[in-house]
Amino acid sequence: ATRWQQRLAARAQLAAQAAPPAEVDWDSLGFGLSRVGATMWMASCDAVDGKWSTGELQPYGPLPMYPSAQALNYGQAVFEGMKAQRTAKDRIVLFRPDANADRMIEGAKRLSMVPPPKDLFLEAVTKVVEANADWVPPQGKGSLYLRPLLMGSGPILGLGPAPAYTLVVYCASVGSYFKGGQLTPIDLIVETHFHRAAPGGMGGTKCAGNYSPVLVTQLAAKKNGYSDVVYLDAKTDTYLEEVSSCNIFVVKGKTIRTPPLKGTILPGVTRRSIIELARSRGYTVEEEPVSVTEAMEADEIFTTGTAVVVSPVGSLTYEGKRRQFGEPGQPSPVALELYDQLTGLQQERYPDPFGWVYPV
Ligand code: COI
Repeated sequence: ATRWQQRLAARAQLAAQAAPPAEVDWDSLGFGLSRVGATMWMASCDAVDGKWSTGELQPYGPLPMYPSAQALNYGQAVFEGMKAQRTAKDRIVLFRPDANADRMIEGAKRLSMVPPPKDLFLEAVTKVVEANADWVPPQGKGSLYLRPLLMGSGPILGLGPAPAYTLVVYCASVGSYFKGGQLTPIDLIVETHFHRAAPGGMGGTKCAGNYSPVLVTQLAAKKNGYSDVVYLDAKTDTYLEEVSSCNIFVVKGKTIRTPPLKGTILPGVTRRSIIELARSRGYTVEEEPVSVTEAMEADEIFTTGTAVVVSPVGSLTYEGKRRQFGEPGQPSPVALELYDQLTGLQQERYPDPFGWVYPV
């Protein structure tokens, strides 16, 4: 067989592996590609006219790309994270997909890419969910995680925007992001050497380039038994920014504080939703700088994100001092309450006064 035939065979094998087995153990899902959807969606755009093609579904598999693709060389790449869930109303819904569309469009502008029209983004995610409905776990067992990806796929050598762009959406069935299960408290360490982002930089953009620089600290932290790392502000090393993969909230009594959106942290869709949910339940929520000292003295801390949902923090370590929150292994009360409210709304076990669920 020629190399090309071998490649096609490999691709067919990948698609076959992706097909859902008749009996799926939905209880053993982690956050990975073990149950990747068989179908993905793609659309492309030529920067000469800036018009997007109508997208189409195709089998999940490798993408052909030039070595000179802008995204591979200079990093024009933004992505989104979204979840589709099977609900108590026996249907499948997405959660605030318009917010993800808006964020991708903003990110595209920041990286001088051609933004996809909002309708195209919504059509893409909807089609992927429809085509991969078998991969949406039973209610409460997990979700179908969608990864919309926008990249400067066209070739270029000198530094400049790509001549062509690709929007692709793939998906995988997922369960809990952190090891130990959804509400198992995580152990965080405050990073005192590296920063995640600086004022005027890219911290507020969901670009690919924000997620690998954190690995050096995250891997070191994991080696020492921590789940993840909290970053401090680059100017004063005083205030919390975010965790590698999620936003952070600090609770004292009925007041919840979370770092403000000043361009250095990710404007999380879950962050925004938790702020509104908490306010609707009588908490005072302040988007204000939160010092690491204040965090060490808090009643509890939790993190939020599409992948992590709401994760209680079991301990925070800063400059060798470890603060334990609550009983080891037990989720803290405010995190538990907001997790229940958010997932109840997302799975249509509770009403949705905000209009956030989006039936597919
Ligand atoms: C998400 O929460 O959807 C993200 O994109 C974070 C990523 C590190 C998994």
